[in-house]
Amino acid sequence: MKLGGNDLCWCGSQNKYKNCHAEFDSRIEFYKTHGHIVPPINIIKTTEQIAGIRESGKINIAVLDYIAENIHAGITTEEINQLVYEKTIEFGAAPAQLGYEGFPKSVCTSINEQVCHGIPSKDVILKSGDIINVDVSTIYQGYFSDSSRMFCIGDVCEKKRSLIRIVQECIDLGLRKVKPWGFLGDMGQAIHEHAVKNGYSVVKEIGGHGIGLEFHEEPWVGYTSKKKTEMLMVPGMVFTIEPMINVGTDEIFLDKKNGWTFYTADGQPSAQEEIMVLVTSYGYEVLAH
Ligand code: MF3
Ligand code: CO
Repeated sequence: MKLGGNDLCWCGSQNKYKNCHAEFDSRIEFYKTHGHIVPPINIIKTTEQIAGIRESGKINIAVLDYIAENIHAGITTEEINQLVYEKTIEFGAAPAQLGYEGFPKSVCTSINEQVCHGIPSKDVILKSGDIINVDVSTIYQGYFSDSSRMFCIGDVCEKKRSLIRIVQECIDLGLRKVKPWGFLGDMGQAIHEHAVKNGYSVVKEIGGHGIGLEFHEEPWVGYTSKKKTEMLMVPGMVFTIEPMINVGTDEIFLDKKNGWTFYTADGQPSAQEEIMVLVTSYGYEVLAH
């Protein structure tokens, strides 16, 4: 579909295309003809959609804040699941994970050598020394949000604490590369370099994703990519930065019994945090962490 200059812009602004996104579209077209991967128009959010995703993100943050206040040694991951479910419902929202492709719970709880997608259970009791990723996602008025944090339970050894510190530094460094007309690979390389420089490895097979109108949208977002490669970043794109970083090998395996949970192949700890970020006309806005 080709819009004429006097047609209404596709973005919903009610302005003429020539005074709105025409220049933006031809800039994207330029990158495309020069061999770059460019975002399809349907993942570029309108102002109204961004406002909705922002509200969803606020709930996601509040639910994680609530978990931060209540997590402790002795709690079961099923109790965390209950807290996430109840708090999300209290906000008039729904947990995006519940029933997603058959996922049985409202949250992922991944402990120590679990890389991601740990399933809450009444048989899993947190104990001093554990590190845990709590990964929450929300649907609010049709808009999706997704973010996760690491928590230290009681007395945690320096090895695990520094792993978490590096994950957080990686995300900060990656975030600084998020700007319009940059590439997702700029962010991926920054994360990978910082992890490797500190002696860690980065999981290759599992990545982040576009998000907003669906839970998982284009693009797939990796953290071992190279600068100036992968998708062009443009204002209005929303995606997650959620690297999984391992103390030992980057190799992982899937728990065949539940079909969801990934573990490190060598049994060494893994950590992950997840932020949801919007590309703006000047840089970025974190919509959830
Ligand atoms: N928050 C996770 C992600 O980043 C959720 C995975 S889907 C689930 O995509 F079903 F496992 F929850
Ligand atoms: Co995610």
